[in-house]
Amino acid sequence: MSRRLIIAIDGPSGAGKGTIAKAVAAELGYRHVDSGALYRAVGWKAVRDAVPLTDEAAIHDLAERSRIAVEGSTVRIDDVDVSRAIRTPEIDRAATAIARLPRVREVLVARLRSLAFDGGVVMEGRDIGTVVFPHADVKVYLDADEDERARRRAHDPAHSGSATLAEVTSALSERDRSDRTRQASPLYAAPDALVIDTTGLPIADVVRDVLERIQARVATA
Ligand code: DC
Repeated sequence: MSRRLIIAIDGPSGAGKGTIAKAVAAELGYRHVDSGALYRAVGWKAVRDAVPLTDEAAIHDLAERSRIAVEGSTVRIDDVDVSRAIRTPEIDRAATAIARLPRVREVLVARLRSLAFDGGVVMEGRDIGTVVFPHADVKVYLDADEDERARRRAHDPAHSGSATLAEVTSALSERDRSDRTRQASPLYAAPDALVIDTTGLPIADVVRDVLERIQARVATA
C-alpha cells in the first residue's frame, strides 16, 4: 500500500469502534486516534474549573487554550495525564454536553484534521466520515443492539464506576439520544459508509470486513 489512507469509523457508544479501530490501525501500521478523548479531556477540564457545561463561549476559550495530546490510550491535557479520569460517568455526561456546542466542535475538528495531515490514520468518533473527513478514503459505521452496547460498556475495564447494568443502559441511551439529535454534527451514517451491525459478531470478523473494504478501495484507487 503506497498512499497512506484516512479511515473513518463512526457509531454510537459500545458499538465496538475502539476495539476495531485499534486492530485495523495495528494491521495497517497506522495511527489510531480516539476523537472522543478530546471531547472528554475538554469536559474534564471544564468540570475541574467549574465552567458551566452550557457556556459555549467559555468552553470554546478553554478548548482553544488547552494543549491536548492523545497517544495510544494516554490522554493529556496541559500535561496532566487524564487517561483514567476522563472515563467516569461524570465525564461521560460532561463530554456529551460540551459536544453539543458548535464553537467547541470547531476547535476540536481543526485539531483532529491536523492529526491526519499526511494520512495513515484510523480515526473513530461520531462525525469523522460526515464532517471531519467527508472525503475519507474508507468510511465505516458500526452499530449494535442497545442492550449489547450497554453490556460491553459495563464490562469495559477502561471505564470506572460501580453502576448497575440498568444504570449504564439508561445513561448510554441518554447520551446516544443527545449525540443523534443535537443540531451540531449529529451522529448518523455517511451514505457511503460500510454499515456493520456488530451484535453477536466476533471481533475478528468485523476487522476482516473492514480490511477487505480497505483493500478494495486501494485496488480501485
Ligand atoms: O466516544 P466517546 O464516548 O468517548 O465520546 C464522548 C462524547 O463525545 C460523546 O457524547 C460523543 C462525543 N463525540 C462527538 O460528538 N464527536 C466525536 N467525533 C467524538 C465524540
